[in-house]
Amino acid sequence: NIKGFVFDLDGVIADTSVYHSKAWHQLADELGVQWSEDLANNLKGVSRMDSLELILKTGGKENDYTQEEKEKYAAKKNTNYLELLKGMNASAILPGISDFLTSLEEHDYKLSLASASKNSPLVLEQLGLAQYFKEKVDPSTLKHGKPDPEIFARGAEVLGLKPEECIGIEDAKVGVESINSAGETSIGIGDPNILNEADINFTSTTDLTLNNIQKAMEVGQL
Ligand code: BG6
Ligand code: MG
Repeated sequence: NIKGFVFDLDGVIADTSVYHSKAWHQLADELGVQWSEDLANNLKGVSRMDSLELILKTGGKENDYTQEEKEKYAAKKNTNYLELLKGMNASAILPGISDFLTSLEEHDYKLSLASASKNSPLVLEQLGLAQYFKEKVDPSTLKHGKPDPEIFARGAEVLGLKPEECIGIEDAKVGVESINSAGETSIGIGDPNILNEADINFTSTTDLTLNNIQKAMEVGQL
C-alpha cells in the first residue's frame, strides 16, 4: 500500500525548469554550443556540473576547459538562474499542485522532496510551499545523480518508508528511471513518448489527483 509521495521540484511543483533552460541556453550561446529542444530535454533533472559537462560534450568541447574554468561557468549559470528567480512567487506553482498537496495531507500521506537542485529550499520558500516538505534529500550529499536510484531511494528512507510504499513524481526521463530503479511507482508528468518508462503518465499537472492515480493503479494499491 502507498504511504508516501516523493516529489521532484523543477517542472513538477513549479514552472522553474523553463528558468533552468533559459539560463543554460544563455551559457550555451556564450560557449558557442548549438542549443536544441533535445538538449533541453536531456538536461532536465541533471545536476549543475553534469549539465555543464553535457553541454560541452554536445558541442565537442569537453576537453577545452580546466576544472576551474568549468566551475566558473557553472557558477555563472547559477547567477543567471537566481536572477530569473527574483520576484518569483506562488504564481509559479504549476496548475493543480496546491490542491494535490492539500489532498495528500488530508489523506495523511507522507511527503518528501527528491530534487537535484541545490536551490530547492529557496524555491520552496519563494513559492510558500516549504511547510509541505519538511523531509528533503540534500543533493550535495549524493554520490550519484539521476538516473541513479540513490536520490529517490533516500526520498523514501527520510520518510521511514519502503520504496514499494512510495510513488515518485518526475518530469525528467532520468528522474523516471531513478524512481523505477529505486523500486517505487513512477508518475511521469509530460510527453508520454519521452517519459515512456513511467508506470503512470499525465501530460499535465492538472491531471495529478488522487482519483486519477487510483484509476491508473491496480485496485487497492493506493
Ligand atoms: C534539477 C533541474 O532539478 O536541478 C536541472 O531539473 C538543474 O535543470 C538541477 O540543473 C540542478 O539545479 P541547481 O539549482 O543545483 O543548479
Ligand atoms: Mg524536474
